[in-house]
Amino acid sequence: MGRASVAALNKEISDRFTDLSEIRIIAWASDLHLHPPGGYPFPFTGFGGIYQYIDCSRQYMLCLHEINALTKRPELIVLGGDITEMGREDEWMEFSRIMNLGICDIPTIPVMGNHEHLQLPEKERMKELWNEIRCPGWPDLDNQDEFFYSVIRGSIKHIVLDTVKLPDTVMSDRQKAFLASELSYSAYPILIYQHAHIMPAGNWTDGALYLDKDMIRLIHECPNVLGVFSGHTHKPSLWKYRGKMYGTFPSVGYSIGTCTGWGGIILNKEGIKGVFYKELSGESYDDCIGPRSQEGRFVFMEPESFEKSPLLNPFFWYRNPDPLMRE
Ligand SMILES: [Fe+2]
Repeated sequence: MGRASVAALNKEISDRFTDLSEIRIIAWASDLHLHPPGGYPFPFTGFGGIYQYIDCSRQYMLCLHEINALTKRPELIVLGGDITEMGREDEWMEFSRIMNLGICDIPTIPVMGNHEHLQLPEKERMKELWNEIRCPGWPDLDNQDEFFYSVIRGSIKHIVLDTVKLPDTVMSDRQKAFLASELSYSAYPILIYQHAHIMPAGNWTDGALYLDKDMIRLIHECPNVLGVFSGHTHKPSLWKYRGKMYGTFPSVGYSIGTCTGWGGIILNKEGIKGVFYKELSGESYDDCIGPRSQEGRFVFMEPESFEKSPLLNPFFWYRNPDPLMRE
């Protein structure tokens, strides 16, 4: 199902990186917004009733087929938050059903999005539910209100943060202490994943950027951090800022001004060598224009300099006073 749509991307990766054994791919799938396939047991008046028009289970299954059709197998899929529409039990069960179809056996790591925090089941039930739906390698759910952790896979440290409820949230002291500790004790390169973005992506979701000056400083001052990647925007974007990448990826479920899709981060021993996104092929839904049909194309994103951008907010981000020193 996904193979034909991924053929051109496979060729491009092989052309850019002739020895595939020298690269690694981290795949990204976020904003699945899974809903119960039979509908909700109450009148659904959520995000504009969008689910009348798009079957998010179909979107996610196709995403897994497409990722599975990559010639260079990703070592990990980051599920970048908003896995469910509201964090309800029936939505998590739909996620579990799809994961058990055997479409793709690449390991996953979960990130909580703002939608996970909308209607979490009671604490004890959520822990039981977690044990029913968790995929191999997922950490224990120690705190459902703020779920953050790190894992080391193949000499890369992956730090998962929780941007919790939006808007007007900043990082808790507890999470900030965790981040500071993880960044200071790492012999490995670091990738950070968090649902909400910290640099503009160019749609209305920028109205709730996750801006925490201490967090930004911690990340900026850690030389091991290669990049910070997010979902939430339902729109791809890529910045470079003082040697690190800051990216967002399309949404699997529905887009906001672009396409639905998934993404990938390509690395070698030197660091990040490419960031791409891949449109899902076929039917899709965009919040701005409604139902649409997608060809399934891919884009390797060229990062823009954030330090030179008028979108840099100097209350949070440093801009070198010497224009010639801006990267
Ligand atoms: Fe979302």
